[in-house]
Parts: sequence; structure tokens; C-alpha cells
Amino acid sequence: NAPSLTLGIETSCDETGIALYHSEKGLLAHSLYSQVKLHAEYGGVVPELASRDHVRKILPLVRETLDKAQTQPSDITGIAYTRGPGLMGALLSGAAVARSLAFAWQLPAVGVHHMEGHLLAPMLEDTQPEFPFICLLVSGGHSMIIRVDGIGRYRLLGDTLDDAAGEAFDKTAKMLGLGYPGGPEVSKRALQGVSDRYKFPRPMVDRPGLDMSFSGLKTYTLNTWLKAKDENDATEQTQADICRAFEMAVADTLRIKCKRALEQEGLNRLVVSGGVSANREIREQLTALMDKRRGEVFFPRLEFCTDNGAMIAYAGSKRLAAGQSDDLNFACQPRWDL
Ligand code: KG4
Ligand code: ZN
Repeated sequence: NAPSLTLGIETSCDETGIALYHSEKGLLAHSLYSQVKLHAEYGGVVPELASRDHVRKILPLVRETLDKAQTQPSDITGIAYTRGPGLMGALLSGAAVARSLAFAWQLPAVGVHHMEGHLLAPMLEDTQPEFPFICLLVSGGHSMIIRVDGIGRYRLLGDTLDDAAGEAFDKTAKMLGLGYPGGPEVSKRALQGVSDRYKFPRPMVDRPGLDMSFSGLKTYTLNTWLKAKDENDATEQTQADICRAFEMAVADTLRIKCKRALEQEGLNRLVVSGGVSANREIREQLTALMDKRRGEVFFPRLEFCTDNGAMIAYAGSKRLAAGQSDDLNFACQPRWDL
């Protein structure tokens, strides 16, 4: 195969991510613009504002990324964009730019599944997992346990029955009056928390199977907080203790489910990715699990846990190398199974 250079464009939600991935030299450059400040005052992502901000930012970031990598458009051999799942307007902003550039530069373009991007993000690191492995994919919209036998060879083993893990973090933060996005806020507070003041339930661990459920945990959090308010004990310490108990419950649950998946599939390699994989407690618990099993665990670097262009450039380069590309009649898919 001749060397390739893939331009990746990620715009599924509230981050504009652009990257250049070279098939032999690896990641050449990447740029990220986060809209977090724009949405913070609303306590969540406002879709229409997100689309407009992507439109404003994509091309300047493409230029910036080309400059960082000291490359020209003529060096690029293919373009990858996030086709779904995500916010329709946000997806269309990225796809329209990707398709237009591909048309102007006469290059192939391929629409990538956002979760495949997350799933493959650890491949951007120096030590990469070999296939097959179990992947725990935990983000704001998904909580999945997947058996991965190769690029594009994914089997869903477990899913969430209600809220995704990241969604549970975000809702917990909102209930406690903490900022958006909630995951980093909850985990920052948890550091000050006392670990044995509250013991939250470990949802679904007593039931067989690999499905997960986090909405009960959210309700438990709310009731604990309301009770503390009733008792005039809604202090910062209580807030921190609740964050700690919540985070421990999520981490424990994920560890138990991962262990079960590895045993079921007879594997000893675990990949953890998606926004929630940035969580310190979850990383520690899963690392301890794999140490104990004398297995291997892989995480993306922190900046590639959450949404970014690098993972889309990487996944797209693999898809393009396999001969896949889309024609001009592109369609975005706000809902799309992996
Ligand atoms: O992967 P991502 O950037 O976007 C989606 O594809 O959803 O994930 C965002 C989610 C949010 O719910 C955010 O609260 C959560 O990841 N998150 C965290 C942490 N950092 C981000 N959750 C727990 N601990 C963190 N440190
Ligand atoms: Zn994501």
C-alpha cells in the first residue's frame, strides 16, 4: 500500500476536532476547539448554537492543522468525517465541509462511525492492543461492552438499558448544582470526598449478563442529596461525599462487568475508551483488575478520551485503506448502531 494522509473532521457534538493521520508516520497534527463555554450557561449542549459554531471553526482549524503538520492540501490522500451518531446539524456541518473539500481536491471521502473512532482511539498511542480484545466504551451517549476481533469486526456483548455512564455523571452534577460537563466536575469533587460515608448500590451486578443500568444510581444520588438538604447538611463536604460514593459505584460496576466479559470470552486484553475513560477512579480500578489478572489494559491519552479529530482520522484511514469511500450523496445518521 502506498502511504496515505487522512484529514479527519469531527463535529458530532460540541467539539470541533481536526487531525491529520499518516499511515506510516502516525498522527502528524491535531487541533481541537471546544464549545463548552458557549453551552455552559444553558447547562447542556444547544444543538443550533453547536452547528453554527462548527461552521465558523472548521476551515480555520483545517488551515491551522495543515500548518502545524507543515503540509499542503496536495499531500492529503483522503478525508474522513463523523457521519453519526450525534446531533444532526452538527454532523451536517462537518460532513458538508468534508464532502466539499473532497470534491474540490478530488479525493475520496468516508463517513466514520463516531463510536468506532472512540473504540480505536487507543491505537494512536505508542503501544497498541492486539486483536482480539474486549472494549469498554463509555461516553456521554453510550455505555457498551464490545468484543473486537479486528477493524470493523465488532460484536456487542452488553449495553446500557437506560442512561449512559457519562449521562449519569452529567445528571448527577446537575442535581448537585455543579457545572457542565458533569464528569470532570463530579470527579474533581470526589477527590475531597470520604469514601465510606455513603454506600451507593452497584446496579445490575447481581444479575447475570453484561448489560448495565445507571438511572437508578442517579435517583439514589438525588434522594441522598434531598435528605441531606432536609437535615440541613447540604454542605460542600456532603456534596463531595456523594460524588465519591457515586463515582465508586460506577467504577465498581464497570469493573465487575469488564471482568465478566473477559471471563465469558476467554480474553485478557481490555481497551477502555470514550469520555468517561478519562475518569481517574475508573482508570485505577480497571488497571488494578488487569494487574491482578496479569492481563493488559489500554486507554487513550486523556485528550483523546473525549471527542477529537485524531480518532476520526485514524478510523477513516483504516476504512479508506480497505477501499471504502462514500459518493456525493452523503447522509448523516443521528442514530446509528455500531
Ligand atoms: O466521548 P465524549 O466526549 O462525547 C460523547 O461521545 O458522548 O464523552 C463525554 C462524556 C460526558 O458525559 C462527560 O461528563 C464524560 O464524558 N466525562 C467524564 C470525565 N470526563 C468526561 N466522566 C467522568 N469522569 C471524567 N473525568
Ligand atoms: Zn464521543
